[in-house]
Amino acid sequence: MHLRKLNIRDADRILEWIKDPEINKYFRFDPDKMNRDDVISFIEKAQNESKDIHMAATDDNDRYLGTVSLKNINYNDKNAEYAISLHKDAVGSGVAKFATEEIIKIAFTKLNLERIYLNVFSDNSRAINFYNKMGFKYEGELEKHLQIRGEFKSLKLFAILKK
Ligand SMILES: CC(C)(COP(=O)(O)OP(=O)(O)OC[C@H]1O[C@@H](n2cnc3c(N)ncnc32)[C@H](O)[C@@H]1OP(=O)(O)O)[C@@H](O)C(=O)NCCC(=O)NCCS
Repeated sequence: MHLRKLNIRDADRILEWIKDPEINKYFRFDPDKMNRDDVISFIEKAQNESKDIHMAATDDNDRYLGTVSLKNINYNDKNAEYAISLHKDAVGSGVAKFATEEIIKIAFTKLNLERIYLNVFSDNSRAINFYNKMGFKYEGELEKHLQIRGEFKSLKLFAILKK
């Protein structure tokens, strides 16, 4: 397994998980409004961003397996928001653990951040179990914080500190 910058050749596999109802039900974007051009512009923009880092997790044949990100990197407060999504065929493969450990290493060692935080839909029990397993600490819940396609969704907040 490897972690590298996103590349245009990842676009089709990214679009597959964006369009996959088993995956996109855990995100707030509207999958019907996303197309291949949007994915390509996202990847292109990601090459020159300083506030956001989006990395591709790949297998040994450089096949894209998922994206792990540090977003809204704040060098004053020394924090960033973590996010992850895998292609369905990589769920349960161990790549999420690998990619998360790598990006946490980048955050705390290379970028010298103090805190990485995340939010997750309260009904996403697999992701919540995963964050607990990775050492993120539960910080509380924003009840019915979002309305997505007519349904109120609560968010759970987690964070991990450098120490
Ligand atoms: C969240 C995500 C990155 C986690 O990666 P993963 O490969 O599923 O994670 P793992 O299998 O290593 O760990 C999940 C843990 O949840 C638990 N689990 C397994 N299957 C589960 C299920 N069906 N329901 C609830 N918990 C489950 C287990 O404790 C498991 O850990 P363990 O088997 O190693 O003890 C991945 O599932 C994913 O991309 N999901 C879709 C997008 C998403 O939800 N992104 C996060 C948005 S906040």
